[in-house]
Amino acid sequence: MEPDAATWIARTAEHVRQQMAGDATGHDWFHIERVRRMALRIAREEGADPVVVELAALLHDLDDWKRTGDPEAGPRQARAWLTSQQVPAPLVEHVCQIIQELSFKGSEVPTPMSSLEGCCVQDADRLDALGAIGIARAFAYGGHHGRLLYDPEQPPERHASFAAYQRSRGPTLNHFYEKLLLLAERMQTATGRQVAQQRHRFLEQFLERFLAEWEGRL
Ligand code: ADP
Ligand code: NI
Repeated sequence: MEPDAATWIARTAEHVRQQMAGDATGHDWFHIERVRRMALRIAREEGADPVVVELAALLHDLDDWKRTGDPEAGPRQARAWLTSQQVPAPLVEHVCQIIQELSFKGSEVPTPMSSLEGCCVQDADRLDALGAIGIARAFAYGGHHGRLLYDPEQPPERHASFAAYQRSRGPTLNHFYEKLLLLAERMQTATGRQVAQQRHRFLEQFLERFLAEWEGRL
């Protein structure tokens, strides 16, 4: 008998959990679990296909370019895995297309999603870069890459291309202006927008307080 969707999902979750265990850059298995849960919640409210959404959420950060240096590696790995699990070709294509389109590529680089399912996964992934967890992840990433917390002499940049965004080495606080504060208004689903608003406000409060403490005003 051919494996069914529940089997593909369970095997994929196990595969990804093994691949990502121990990552301390903010791309650990718990990130995947949060994105999976949020993407399914958005999918339910938006009427998207839950199987596509769950598979794409599970696989979206495998061999991410920030670790491999190769933006093609993630979708290639996902395709090989799903094909090995006898997932039908159109479903494989849809999931891989979502993974390909998903990533933030710089403040001036549009990243449109070509399906509703993709919008659900992209919004869920981006919500995990906002709020208290988003702040924790940003500083974990910055620390892992030897970035300063903040440097008043280094202003945030606008990245007109993916290459410029990939090259940037600024302090972690700049990342809030270069990416995190831009995400709420780029949400693609009503549910995503709603959750993003609260998490966005939390980022603004954090920044206000960070700068006040930095300057000794608080
Ligand atoms: P996306 O899933 O939109 O591609 P990324 O994979 O780029 O997001 O980012 C994953 C996490 O790492 C996010 O929480 C993001 O804020 C954080 N991150 C990425 N680049 C930086 C950076 N230069 N400084 C601090 N945090 C970063
Ligand atoms: Ni992610």
